[in-house]
Amino acid sequence: MNNVILIGFMGSGKSSVGKVLANKLQRNFIDMDDEIEVGEAKSINDIFDEYGEERFRELETSYLEKLFTKKNKVISTGGGVVLKEENVDILKKIGTVIFLHTPYEALLNNLQGDLTRPLLQRADSKEVIKNLLEKREPIYFHAASMIIQTKDKSINDITDEIIKLL
Ligand code: S3P
Repeated sequence: MNNVILIGFMGSGKSSVGKVLANKLQRNFIDMDDEIEVGEAKSINDIFDEYGEERFRELETSYLEKLFTKKNKVISTGGGVVLKEENVDILKKIGTVIFLHTPYEALLNNLQGDLTRPLLQRADSKEVIKNLLEKREPIYFHAASMIIQTKDKSINDITDEIIKLL
């Protein structure tokens, strides 16, 4: 089996699901945001603060390109990775792309009080989430070869469902 790649909006549980999934499949787990933070020796917040979103997006692509050498991993991606078509092409080439589809209300709940996502550090964050979701959801659907509804499901349920479909 090739790499398993999780995509989806911030707060859809990609990292938590990815860790448990990797464990169940006895594979290594790669979190792209962690890779960028370790590689750049800076938090995502600091990268956005110091260099801006555009630079972060460039870094995201360059760290994705490193994945071509990886096999049999479980990989979770940042929520904005699908914004560049070239990123989606890379993801499709290196593995099975799975969209964790989480409804707006659940995302709001999961993201409430979050301080780690630079795009949401503003008073109108609910509006930002709504707008970004509207823009991105069709792209996630298009990029994925497998869609998992996460509503009212535990991480255990979600990972078992993925394993059955793989
Ligand atoms: C982002 C999502 C974040 C992180 C960065 C930008 C986005 O990852 O890459 O804050 O644009 O949706 P998570 O989806 O893991 O929160």
